[in-house]
Amino acid sequence: MSHVHKTTCRVCKGTDLTRILSLGEHPPVDNFTDAEHIKDEKRYPLEVYFCGTCNLVQLLDVVAEEELFHGDYAYFSSASKPLVDHFRSYADDLKKEQLTEGDLVVDIGSNDGILLQNFVEKYRVLGIEPSANVAEEARKKGVETLDGFFTVEMARQIVASHGKAKVISANNVFAHIDNVDEIILGVKELLADDGVFVTESHYLLDLVEHMEFDTVYHEHLCYYSVKPLQHLFARFDMEVCDVRRVTVHGGSIRVYARRKTGEQVTESVQALLLLEEQAGLHSLARFADFQNEAEAIKDKLVSLVRGFRKEGKVVTAYGAPAKGNTLLNFCGFTAEDIAYVTDTTPYKVGKLTPGSHIPVRSPDILKTETPDYLLLLAWNYRDFILTKEQELRDRGAKFIIPIPNVEIV
Ligand code: TYD
Ligand code: ZN
Repeated sequence: MSHVHKTTCRVCKGTDLTRILSLGEHPPVDNFTDAEHIKDEKRYPLEVYFCGTCNLVQLLDVVAEEELFHGDYAYFSSASKPLVDHFRSYADDLKKEQLTEGDLVVDIGSNDGILLQNFVEKYRVLGIEPSANVAEEARKKGVETLDGFFTVEMARQIVASHGKAKVISANNVFAHIDNVDEIILGVKELLADDGVFVTESHYLLDLVEHMEFDTVYHEHLCYYSVKPLQHLFARFDMEVCDVRRVTVHGGSIRVYARRKTGEQVTESVQALLLLEEQAGLHSLARFADFQNEAEAIKDKLVSLVRGFRKEGKVVTAYGAPAKGNTLLNFCGFTAEDIAYVTDTTPYKVGKLTPGSHIPVRSPDILKTETPDYLLLLAWNYRDFILTKEQELRDRGAKFIIPIPNVEIV
């Protein structure tokens, strides 16, 4: 079975689910391909639903793990310098507020060790990463890493081999897990009594305020806000004790959860709940225009890019992030529209983007070629990239920024 359509909410198990956005059928965004394998490409519905009971925004179409990643995984966190800086400061927060030297920190979905590498000197670390090629990078940095998916069984084994964890984190992965119950049960096995479970996920409030609809892709099953997370943790006798907005990935939410203590939680929890309420995130009505707003961005981008092509201009794309593939496929762009896309991840270079089949090139090409326009797919690094590419811009290249508003700089 390569794909199932769920009929119940992932958090509250309710059935009051309404579709708020349909982006059509897309191949999984991490399946970079090549000419020989285009014929094997499969597409699945990309549709977003709102739960009337706990207000979780989520996908109900779940694509099987083996369909999501063909062979090696394409995403190496450390390919993006701003992300490396972010995780260093995240680690500093944990050291200051949660940890004592020697404590165990476990990271679920630890990727190339981007968070844990900051702890190796004075703390004990353990990463859990299902993609063998990515886990290997982490080990090179001295980050002990287990292959596989986090389960209750794995949690028990870790307790036996390493003891309990003071901090368990799951970043940009907690929202990607279909069976969240299993994760939380595992966390409860592994977490020290006074430990915290910390997650970072793209935040629904940023998604709706900045129309970041391209962050919708099959791997990304939940679009979290504080309210459904409180609901979720309460089911397991845990509680959200602190929340912080962070700027990565176009706006994310860091959520600290602990075993229920009945003690005071930080004021930020109530403050953010109120902000969500005021923004309409707890009501279906807020999403009535969601589809039209996404279509409007698409129409603008398509007419811009096709207009430039008619004038004989060269248009390329900058960055091949997961979300870029949602945008390219939603717009229906092909190599006729976008000549190539540059990306710093060696793994992606030389392949074709899934669905749109645009060749991925090394950014080195921009040292000698000057496209007229570059569609900035990694718009979350806008300032960093515009500064870094000043020389290219001085040569006359212009960036098309798609999100939150289509603009040319
Ligand atoms: P990112 O936005 O981190 O994540 P996601 O895939 O979840 O949307 O991905 C950024 C991509 O852009 C990544 O493939 C690396 C690439 N990139 C560049 O090519 N150049 C850059 O200067 C930066 C910052 C990123
Ligand atoms: Zn629900």
